[in-house]
Amino acid sequence: MLSEKMQEALNTQLNKETYSAYLYMSMSAYSTYIGLKGFANWFMVQYQEEMMHAMKIYDYINDQGGQVKLMAIERPLAEFKSPMDMFEKTLEHEKFITRSINELVDLAIAEKDHATNIFLQWYVTEQIEEEGNDNEIISKLKLVGEDGNGLLMIDKELAMRVFTPPATSEASQA
Ligand code: FEO
Repeated sequence: MLSEKMQEALNTQLNKETYSAYLYMSMSAYSTYIGLKGFANWFMVQYQEEMMHAMKIYDYINDQGGQVKLMAIERPLAEFKSPMDMFEKTLEHEKFITRSINELVDLAIAEKDHATNIFLQWYVTEQIEEEGNDNEIISKLKLVGEDGNGLLMIDKELAMRVFTPPATSEASQA
């Protein structure tokens, strides 16, 4: 069972995850527009990941007998200065999400809501991976700098990313 405060905080996080999906869909669209199909693929997979993050919260609120209340989704940026700009903004956004997850954990602990605390641990771990991925790509982009061939090599690499849906047992645990 969820307290009113926890339910509201989880609904807010559901909105932030959905916005994240929307932001990465926008980056995917922009990547396609500037001819970087690999970047477009990477961001579209990220969109799918974020929708999965959102739906896990949606399912959790329902499983706990709470009420899902959807909110307006903020309009994301439509244009970016460069691939580096997109990844810097991605990392900045993920740091914001990490802070938000940490605050949720703090609330769960304060309320002695053990179930929600356990549920949120998946997100704590996921955020390490998310920030790690972004840092790695930013490092590569720094290495290639203005070199167009280097950028195309990164584009090829990012084209390989595939979305792996979570295993059923993992999904039902969370
Ligand atoms: Fe769902 Fe990228 O945090």
